[in-house]
Amino acid sequence: MSRKLDRCYNLEDLRKRARKRLPSPMYHYMRGGADDEWSLNNNTAAFDRYELLPRYLVNVEKIDAGVTVLGQELEWPLFLSPTGMSRIFHHEGEIGAARAAHRSGTMYSLSTLGSTSIEDVAAASDGPRMFQIYVLRDPGLNREFIERCREAKYSALCLTVDVPVGGNRERDFHTGMTVPPKLTFMSKLDVARHVSWTYRYLTSGEAEMANFAHRIRDTEDTNLMGYVGRQFDMTVDWDDAARMIEQWGGPFAIKGVMCAEDARRSVEAGASAVMLSNHGGRQLDGAPAPVDLVREVRDAIGDAAEVIVDGGVRRGTHVLKALALGATACSTGRGYLYGLGAGGEAGVDRALKILRDEVERDLALLGCVRARDLDGRFVREVGHQGARK
Ligand code: LAC
Repeated sequence: MSRKLDRCYNLEDLRKRARKRLPSPMYHYMRGGADDEWSLNNNTAAFDRYELLPRYLVNVEKIDAGVTVLGQELEWPLFLSPTGMSRIFHHEGEIGAARAAHRSGTMYSLSTLGSTSIEDVAAASDGPRMFQIYVLRDPGLNREFIERCREAKYSALCLTVDVPVGGNRERDFHTGMTVPPKLTFMSKLDVARHVSWTYRYLTSGEAEMANFAHRIRDTEDTNLMGYVGRQFDMTVDWDDAARMIEQWGGPFAIKGVMCAEDARRSVEAGASAVMLSNHGGRQLDGAPAPVDLVREVRDAIGDAAEVIVDGGVRRGTHVLKALALGATACSTGRGYLYGLGAGGEAGVDRALKILRDEVERDLALLGCVRARDLDGRFVREVGHQGARK
């Protein structure tokens, strides 16, 4: 590991290092949210509205951070969310992230918009992996995705439902991160200034949407999410979701649920997990923080499905708060992308080590030996007036 990576002690240190190492169009595509980025900022700020209630004089010598989610036994309760085009952040991209996830004892998720194919990720790492589906206008492609994942022995699928249209990512218009890219003069200058990124990018082959670029050609000017939004089938409904779940026949998450009603509909459609997510604040600005929905969703569906908090996680304590509120596990996108941008596969290793060490240390500090035992005894809203139990 490069010396500078091991001097990154939290995700913010990795973000700052990624900021230095990435040309601005790539960094702002990763960092950016929709509109005024209120949801993006609220996702993390929301965790500060909860406090943890520790118990002491508990023998915490043997901490067990393991959880079972989407049919997988994970060594700790955070897995990698699907994110697009990882190879624009570092040439080791999805393969580096998948290998780091496996080493860390957790699961990797490949996006439909990944820059590495379903098969190439499976060939590079036999760790737990999920494939995330955006329903594309070409129905044959959706069926193909599911069968390719079965063939490549993916552990789970997830259907992302919060992109009926692309979110308004204004940073991308400012930098020219569009499809096809129309980098502004300043962006071109910035790309040229990042010599090592540019060299690696040019010598390792241009990143494209490896899983479907061969099927869809479209050159109308827009930003990445505008292009992607045009490929998506906006007529998708819960019956389509149920059909995909039936076709897959294995663990299946609905990602992007933002209310109890959709959580119930996910269970009715046959989903095994509900991923509470506002797409990292990149779609509907104003959507609530996933962590704030856990209790009402659990009240609505009980244990009929697993509940995953996706969004805003930057600390081990965030994971513990989510689980104590009722989540089964958490997932993060930027949490590992900052590592990828900061140092490729080694950077993702660093990000996951930072987070896993925090989770295990915080379980000990909380006096909770097993992550599975986290519940309402360990968490409350800040300013709660009730008696301490
Ligand atoms: C995004 C897509 C790739 O948010 O999910 O950029």
